[in-house]
Amino acid sequence: MQLSIRHLLGLDGVSEKDITIILDTADAMKKVLQRPIPKVPTMKGKTVVNLFYENSTRTRISFELAEKRLSADTVNFSTSTSSVKKGETLKDTIKNIEAMRIDFVVMRHGVPGSSHYLANCVDASVINAGDGPHEHPTQALLDMMTIREKRGSLKGLNVCLVGDITHSRVSRSNVYGLLACGAKVGVCGPATLIPYDMQDMGITVYPHIEDALAEADVLNVLRIQLERQKGALFPTLREYRNLFGITEARLAKAHSDITVLHPGPMNRGVEIDSEVADGPQAVILDQVTNGVAVRMAILFLLAGGRSSFEGVDHE
Ligand code: CP
Repeated sequence: MQLSIRHLLGLDGVSEKDITIILDTADAMKKVLQRPIPKVPTMKGKTVVNLFYENSTRTRISFELAEKRLSADTVNFSTSTSSVKKGETLKDTIKNIEAMRIDFVVMRHGVPGSSHYLANCVDASVINAGDGPHEHPTQALLDMMTIREKRGSLKGLNVCLVGDITHSRVSRSNVYGLLACGAKVGVCGPATLIPYDMQDMGITVYPHIEDALAEADVLNVLRIQLERQKGALFPTLREYRNLFGITEARLAKAHSDITVLHPGPMNRGVEIDSEVADGPQAVILDQVTNGVAVRMAILFLLAGGRSSFEGVDHE
Protein backbone atom coordinates (compact mmCIF):
# COMPACT_ATOMS: atom_id res chain seq x y z
CA MET A 1 0.00 0.00 0.00
CA GLN A 2 1.16 3.52 -0.77
CA LEU A 3 0.74 6.79 1.13
CA SER A 4 -1.93 9.24 0.00
CA ILE A 5 0.32 12.22 0.85
CA ARG A 6 3.24 13.70 -1.11
CA HIS A 7 4.77 15.69 1.75
CA LEU A 8 4.81 15.12 5.51
CA LEU A 9 4.09 18.59 6.89
CA GLY A 10 2.21 17.57 10.03
CA LEU A 11 -0.19 14.94 11.36
CA ASP A 12 -3.21 17.26 11.29
CA GLY A 13 -5.52 15.60 8.76
CA VAL A 14 -3.31 12.55 8.15
CA SER A 15 -5.49 9.42 8.15
CA GLU A 16 -5.21 6.39 10.42
CA LYS A 17 -4.54 4.37 7.24
CA ASP A 18 -1.51 6.49 6.27
CA ILE A 19 -0.21 6.45 9.85
CA THR A 20 -0.58 2.66 9.99
CA ILE A 21 1.27 2.27 6.67
CA ILE A 22 4.13 4.37 8.08
CA LEU A 23 4.27 2.46 11.38
CA ASP A 24 4.10 -0.96 9.68
CA THR A 25 6.87 0.05 7.29
CA ALA A 26 8.93 1.38 10.20
CA ASP A 27 8.64 -2.05 11.88
CA ALA A 28 10.09 -3.59 8.71
CA MET A 29 12.82 -0.94 8.55
CA LYS A 30 13.75 -1.74 12.15
CA LYS A 31 14.43 -5.32 11.03
CA VAL A 32 16.74 -3.94 8.31
CA LEU A 33 18.59 -1.98 11.01
CA GLN A 34 19.12 -5.20 12.98
CA ARG A 35 20.84 -6.96 10.04
CA PRO A 36 24.65 -7.36 10.05
CA ILE A 37 24.78 -4.83 7.19
CA PRO A 38 21.97 -2.38 8.08
CA LYS A 39 21.66 -0.86 4.63
CA VAL A 40 19.43 -1.27 1.53
CA PRO A 41 19.78 0.25 -1.96
CA THR A 42 16.17 1.48 -2.00
CA MET A 43 16.91 5.20 -2.47
CA LYS A 44 20.02 4.96 -4.63
CA GLY A 45 20.05 7.96 -6.98
CA LYS A 46 17.75 10.07 -4.77
CA THR A 47 19.09 13.24 -3.14
CA VAL A 48 17.95 14.60 0.23
CA VAL A 49 18.82 18.04 1.60
CA ASN A 50 18.67 18.44 5.38
CA LEU A 51 17.88 22.10 6.01
CA PHE A 52 18.22 22.89 9.72
CA TYR A 53 17.58 26.50 10.72
CA GLU A 54 17.26 25.47 14.40
CA ASN A 55 19.44 23.32 16.64
CA SER A 56 18.88 19.58 16.76
CA THR A 57 20.67 16.45 17.93
CA ARG A 58 18.25 13.50 17.58
CA THR A 59 16.21 14.61 14.56
CA ARG A 60 19.15 15.77 12.43
CA ILE A 61 21.35 12.76 13.12
CA SER A 62 18.56 10.21 12.72
CA PHE A 63 17.40 11.72 9.40
CA GLU A 64 20.98 11.62 8.13
CA LEU A 65 21.39 8.02 9.30
CA ALA A 66 18.03 7.02 7.78
CA GLU A 67 19.05 8.54 4.44
CA LYS A 68 22.42 6.74 4.48
CA ARG A 69 20.78 3.41 5.47
CA LEU A 70 18.56 3.78 2.39
CA SER A 71 21.58 4.65 0.18
CA ALA A 72 20.34 8.17 -0.68
CA ASP A 73 22.78 11.01 -1.38
CA THR A 74 22.55 13.50 1.48
CA VAL A 75 23.52 17.14 1.81
CA ASN A 76 23.50 18.95 5.14
CA PHE A 77 22.72 22.65 5.21
CA SER A 78 23.67 24.70 8.22
CA THR A 79 22.48 28.29 8.47
CA SER A 80 25.60 29.44 10.34
CA THR A 81 27.85 28.71 7.32
CA SER A 82 25.38 29.58 4.53
CA SER A 83 24.32 32.70 2.62
CA VAL A 84 21.34 32.99 5.01
CA LYS A 85 23.87 34.98 7.04
CA LYS A 86 24.04 37.45 4.11
CA GLY A 87 20.25 37.89 4.20
CA GLU A 88 19.16 35.31 1.58
CA THR A 89 15.48 34.42 1.98
CA LEU A 90 14.14 30.91 2.59
CA LYS A 91 12.52 30.90 -0.87
CA ASP A 92 15.70 31.99 -2.67
CA THR A 93 17.76 29.52 -0.64
CA ILE A 94 15.55 26.57 -1.53
CA LYS A 95 15.11 27.59 -5.18
CA ASN A 96 18.91 27.65 -5.55
CA ILE A 97 19.30 24.29 -3.82
CA GLU A 98 16.50 22.82 -5.95
CA ALA A 99 18.24 24.04 -9.13
CA MET A 100 20.94 21.47 -8.28
CA ARG A 101 18.26 18.73 -8.67
CA ILE A 102 17.10 17.32 -5.37
CA ASP A 103 14.24 14.97 -4.48
CA PHE A 104 13.58 15.66 -0.77
CA VAL A 105 13.92 18.53 1.67
CA VAL A 106 13.90 17.82 5.39
CA MET A 107 13.48 21.13 7.21
CA ARG A 108 13.55 22.36 10.80
CA HIS A 109 12.66 26.02 11.13
CA GLY A 110 11.58 28.30 13.97
CA VAL A 111 8.57 29.73 12.13
CA PRO A 112 5.24 27.87 12.35
CA GLY A 113 3.96 26.97 8.87
CA SER A 114 7.40 27.31 7.23
CA SER A 115 7.32 23.76 5.85
CA HIS A 116 3.86 24.39 4.31
CA TYR A 117 5.32 27.52 2.68
CA LEU A 118 8.31 25.52 1.42
CA ALA A 119 6.05 22.81 -0.05
CA ASN A 120 4.39 25.51 -2.17
CA CYS A 121 7.78 26.72 -3.48
CA VAL A 122 9.40 23.46 -4.58
CA ASP A 123 8.71 20.31 -6.61
CA ALA A 124 10.66 18.17 -4.12
CA SER A 125 8.85 16.32 -1.30
CA VAL A 126 9.05 18.24 1.98
CA ILE A 127 9.33 16.63 5.42
CA ASN A 128 8.74 18.83 8.45
CA ALA A 129 11.41 18.17 11.08
CA GLY A 130 9.80 20.71 13.46
CA ASP A 131 8.36 24.16 12.62
CA GLY A 132 8.45 26.39 15.69
CA PRO A 133 5.72 25.46 18.19
CA HIS A 134 3.48 24.09 15.40
CA GLU A 135 4.18 20.41 14.50
CA HIS A 136 6.90 17.76 14.72
CA PRO A 137 5.27 14.85 12.87
CA THR A 138 8.25 12.47 12.75
CA GLN A 139 8.68 12.77 16.54
CA ALA A 140 5.00 11.89 17.08
CA LEU A 141 5.28 8.94 14.68
CA LEU A 142 8.33 7.56 16.49
CA ASP A 143 6.50 8.05 19.80
CA MET A 144 3.52 6.13 18.40
CA MET A 145 5.78 3.38 17.04
CA THR A 146 7.40 3.03 20.48
CA ILE A 147 4.03 2.94 22.27
CA ARG A 148 2.65 0.37 19.79
CA GLU A 149 5.78 -1.77 20.19
CA LYS A 150 5.47 -1.69 23.98
CA ARG A 151 1.68 -1.88 24.38
CA GLY A 152 0.60 -3.76 21.22
CA SER A 153 -1.99 -1.24 19.99
CA LEU A 154 -2.84 2.44 20.23
CA LYS A 155 -6.59 1.92 20.18
CA GLY A 156 -8.24 2.64 23.55
CA LEU A 157 -4.92 3.33 25.28
CA ASN A 158 -4.84 6.20 27.80
CA VAL A 159 -1.96 8.43 26.71
CA CYS A 160 -1.28 11.56 28.76
CA LEU A 161 1.02 14.39 27.64
CA VAL A 162 2.48 16.30 30.57
CA GLY A 163 3.97 19.77 30.61
CA ASP A 164 4.07 22.71 28.26
CA ILE A 165 1.28 21.70 25.86
CA THR A 166 0.88 25.19 24.37
CA HIS A 167 4.46 25.62 23.15
CA SER A 168 5.08 21.99 22.21
CA ARG A 169 5.11 20.91 18.57
CA VAL A 170 5.56 17.36 19.88
CA SER A 171 2.29 17.53 21.81
CA ARG A 172 0.34 18.96 18.87
CA SER A 173 1.52 16.22 16.47
CA ASN A 174 0.97 13.52 19.13
CA VAL A 175 -2.58 14.73 19.75
CA TYR A 176 -3.49 14.58 16.04
CA GLY A 177 -1.82 11.21 15.47
CA LEU A 178 -3.07 9.52 18.64
CA LEU A 179 -6.67 10.70 18.16
CA ALA A 180 -6.60 9.50 14.53
CA CYS A 181 -5.49 6.06 15.76
CA GLY A 182 -8.17 5.74 18.45
CA ALA A 183 -6.14 6.45 21.61
CA LYS A 184 -7.70 8.30 24.56
CA VAL A 185 -5.64 11.46 24.98
CA GLY A 186 -5.15 13.48 28.15
CA VAL A 187 -3.04 16.54 28.93
CA CYS A 188 -1.70 17.76 32.25
CA GLY A 189 0.18 20.92 33.18
CA PRO A 190 -0.21 24.45 34.49
CA ALA A 191 -3.43 26.06 33.20
CA THR A 192 -1.28 28.75 31.53
CA LEU A 193 0.39 26.07 29.37
CA ILE A 194 -2.79 24.24 28.25
CA PRO A 195 -4.63 25.54 25.14
CA TYR A 196 -8.26 26.47 25.90
CA ASP A 197 -9.77 24.24 23.15
CA MET A 198 -8.43 20.86 24.36
CA GLN A 199 -11.79 19.63 25.72
CA ASP A 200 -13.51 20.52 22.41
CA MET A 201 -11.10 18.07 20.74
CA GLY A 202 -12.21 15.25 23.06
CA ILE A 203 -9.09 15.53 25.22
CA THR A 204 -9.21 15.13 29.01
CA VAL A 205 -7.52 17.97 30.89
CA TYR A 206 -5.95 16.97 34.21
CA PRO A 207 -5.08 19.96 36.44
CA HIS A 208 -3.32 17.61 38.89
CA ILE A 209 -0.56 15.17 37.98
CA GLU A 210 -1.79 12.63 40.55
CA ASP A 211 -5.12 12.32 38.67
CA ALA A 212 -3.32 11.93 35.33
CA LEU A 213 -1.02 9.25 36.76
CA ALA A 214 -3.96 7.31 38.22
CA GLU A 215 -5.46 6.84 34.73
CA ALA A 216 -2.54 6.83 32.29
CA ASP A 217 -1.23 3.74 30.50
CA VAL A 218 1.40 5.92 28.84
CA LEU A 219 2.94 9.20 29.99
CA ASN A 220 4.71 11.42 27.46
CA VAL A 221 6.70 13.94 29.51
CA LEU A 222 7.43 17.12 27.56
CA ARG A 223 10.37 19.44 27.90
CA ILE A 224 9.76 22.79 29.56
CA GLN A 225 10.64 25.11 26.68
CA LEU A 226 11.91 28.24 28.34
CA GLU A 227 13.08 29.61 24.98
CA ARG A 228 9.53 29.70 23.52
CA GLN A 229 7.78 31.31 26.50
CA LYS A 230 7.29 35.06 26.21
CA GLY A 231 6.11 35.78 29.76
CA ALA A 232 6.30 34.12 33.16
CA LEU A 233 3.71 31.35 32.66
CA PHE A 234 4.61 29.61 35.91
CA PRO A 235 6.37 31.13 38.92
CA THR A 236 9.60 29.10 39.11
CA LEU A 237 11.12 25.86 37.82
CA ARG A 238 11.14 24.63 41.42
CA GLU A 239 7.38 25.18 41.68
CA TYR A 240 6.84 23.45 38.33
CA ARG A 241 8.82 20.46 39.54
CA ASN A 242 6.91 20.39 42.84
CA LEU A 243 3.52 20.38 41.10
CA PHE A 244 4.14 18.47 37.87
CA GLY A 245 7.61 16.88 37.93
CA ILE A 246 7.64 13.11 37.32
CA THR A 247 9.43 11.78 40.37
CA GLU A 248 9.99 8.18 41.49
CA ALA A 249 7.53 8.70 44.39
CA ARG A 250 4.79 9.96 42.07
CA LEU A 251 5.36 7.16 39.54
CA ALA A 252 5.03 4.56 42.32
CA LYS A 253 1.35 5.54 42.58
CA ALA A 254 0.69 4.98 38.85
CA HIS A 255 -0.19 1.67 37.11
CA SER A 256 2.80 -0.63 37.66
CA ASP A 257 3.17 -1.18 33.89
CA ILE A 258 2.98 2.50 32.92
CA THR A 259 5.20 3.41 29.95
CA VAL A 260 7.15 6.69 30.18
CA LEU A 261 8.30 8.63 27.11
CA HIS A 262 10.23 11.87 26.71
CA PRO A 263 11.10 13.36 23.30
CA GLY A 264 14.34 14.89 24.55
CA PRO A 265 16.32 16.90 25.29
CA MET A 266 15.44 16.39 28.97
CA ASN A 267 15.66 18.90 31.80
CA ARG A 268 16.56 16.33 34.46
CA GLY A 269 15.31 17.36 37.89
CA VAL A 270 12.68 19.66 36.37
CA GLU A 271 10.01 17.83 34.32
CA ILE A 272 11.50 14.37 34.97
CA ASP A 273 13.83 12.90 37.59
CA SER A 274 16.81 10.75 36.64
CA GLU A 275 15.41 7.76 38.59
CA VAL A 276 12.40 7.80 36.22
CA ALA A 277 14.25 8.73 33.03
CA ASP A 278 16.74 5.89 33.53
CA GLY A 279 14.25 3.53 35.19
CA PRO A 280 12.51 0.36 33.96
CA GLN A 281 9.31 2.07 32.78
CA ALA A 282 11.13 4.56 30.53
CA VAL A 283 11.47 3.88 26.79
CA ILE A 284 13.31 7.09 26.00
CA LEU A 285 16.27 5.51 24.20
CA ASP A 286 13.90 3.11 22.36
CA GLN A 287 12.24 6.25 21.00
CA VAL A 288 15.60 7.40 19.64
CA THR A 289 16.32 3.98 18.07
CA ASN A 290 12.86 3.94 16.49
CA GLY A 291 13.40 7.43 15.14
CA VAL A 292 15.79 6.09 12.49
CA ALA A 293 13.32 3.37 11.42
CA VAL A 294 10.38 5.82 11.25
CA ARG A 295 12.37 8.31 9.18
CA MET A 296 13.52 5.54 6.83
CA ALA A 297 9.89 4.49 6.42
CA ILE A 298 8.73 8.03 5.63
CA LEU A 299 11.48 8.65 3.06
CA PHE A 300 10.90 5.24 1.46
CA LEU A 301 7.11 5.71 1.25
CA LEU A 302 7.24 9.33 0.02
CA ALA A 303 9.65 8.14 -2.69
CA GLY A 304 6.79 5.92 -3.92
CA GLY A 305 7.62 2.77 -1.96
CA ARG A 306 4.93 0.33 -0.90
CA SER A 307 4.29 -0.81 2.65
CA SER A 308 5.13 -4.50 2.07
CA PHE A 309 8.84 -4.04 2.49
CA GLU A 310 9.78 -7.73 2.77
CA GLY A 311 12.31 -9.03 0.30
CA VAL A 312 14.50 -5.97 -0.02
CA ASP A 313 17.98 -7.32 -0.51
CA HIS A 314 21.21 -6.25 1.09
CA GLU A 315 23.36 -3.91 -0.92
N1 CP B 1 13.14 15.43 20.02
C1 CP B 1 13.84 16.28 19.24
O1 CP B 1 13.31 16.85 18.29
O2 CP B 1 15.15 16.42 19.58
P1 CP B 1 16.22 17.33 18.81
O3 CP B 1 15.80 18.77 19.03
O4 CP B 1 17.53 17.01 19.42
O5 CP B 1 16.15 16.99 17.36
